[in-house]
Amino acid sequence: MPKLNENYLKLEKNYLFINIAKKINEYIKNNPDKKDRIIRMGIGDVTLPIAPCVVEAVKKGADEMGVKETFKGYEDSGTGYDFLKEAVAGYYKSFGVDIATDEIRISDGAKSDCGNIVDIFGDDNIVLITDPAYPVYVDSNLMNGRKVIYADSTEENGFSAVPDPSVHADIIYLCSPNNPTGAAFKTSELKAWIDYAIANDAVIIYDAAYEAFITEDDVPRSIFAVEGARKCAIEICSLSKTAGFTGMRCGYTVIPNELEFKASNGEVVKISQVWGRREGSKFNGVSYPVQCGAAAVFSEEGQKQCKINLEYYKENARIIAETLDELGIWYSGGKNSPYIWLRCPNGMKSWDFFDLLLEKANVVGTPGAGFGKNGEGYFRLTSFGDRDKTIEAMARVKELIKSL
Ligand SMILES: Cc1ncc(COP(=O)(O)O)c(C=O)c1O
Repeated sequence: MPKLNENYLKLEKNYLFINIAKKINEYIKNNPDKKDRIIRMGIGDVTLPIAPCVVEAVKKGADEMGVKETFKGYEDSGTGYDFLKEAVAGYYKSFGVDIATDEIRISDGAKSDCGNIVDIFGDDNIVLITDPAYPVYVDSNLMNGRKVIYADSTEENGFSAVPDPSVHADIIYLCSPNNPTGAAFKTSELKAWIDYAIANDAVIIYDAAYEAFITEDDVPRSIFAVEGARKCAIEICSLSKTAGFTGMRCGYTVIPNELEFKASNGEVVKISQVWGRREGSKFNGVSYPVQCGAAAVFSEEGQKQCKINLEYYKENARIIAETLDELGIWYSGGKNSPYIWLRCPNGMKSWDFFDLLLEKANVVGTPGAGFGKNGEGYFRLTSFGDRDKTIEAMARVKELIKSL
């Protein structure tokens, strides 16, 4: 009998959203008349359709696949077509960051790269993850048996964790704008993490999946906008939330050419080369039509059309924030992020608030405890829903909280 990787037994038995789905199904089973009244503001999936010019580009790419002369098989490099890497580099340039096309790899989304990148690091590294966090960072490291330590994101630091110089880490996960807390690092806060990483000879894995939601000037769109980042950071990004690609699957990872490891035999190797070796063995690239659509996202028309959806979500976030302001409830996020992270009323625990909200208001959110110990007592709402439903949900939340 094969032996199990027993590290899997250390993982939470059920993924957070499966637990939530179970609770909703149970509620509907007992209250079938409420089924259509439930408003879901829990899972972080988008709801608006993909921009028309992006859809056209995907169709054109698919048509080319049906013609002998333009048919594409395996992509030679497996790193993404040049036309898309050039479009990504142009996008970075639009917010003042210079990235060479050979530093970009096209992926099937940020989740895979955030989880898979750990393959290239030894299992004896110490991994530092901010708490609360997107569960993928913790899970993918526990699967390899790595030691995970946490940096606390709390109400006191505005849910933007700060580095502790007395603690050593080799690999640091940062996510800004953050899922779940909606908090986003200002340049000076990110610089503190870069300085810490350089002092520790560590690498930062920077998840920028929500960069398109940034509105404030002193919040960088990329870690590479901050001095020193090219010496210590890998940036992982996604078109899922920027352009509604959750069902299309496309993202990109940037590894600066100067980022290097020293192997135990003293050999110096480029991180991009080792990651390329891993990907070459385990990943065969993103489909051609999807890459055509992704390139269209970065065109002038694509940016204009995607902005319409982003503005829609941002207005939903504003509506949620306004309700919480009226209720005097503390929250972070909503400004540079589609997420609003609120303190549960009356000191309630996050799963208790989840139950209350589901049962009394028929509104579903995500309990903060599912994202780490510092998430207990907090709750995540997303702005990815329908406008009218968001307004209705907030009216119900207001009524419920006022009645407590
Ligand atoms: C912080 C963060 N990173 C990555 C992802 C996954 O992105 P993708 O759809 O590109 O895999 C998500 C999805 O919710 C996320 O919240």
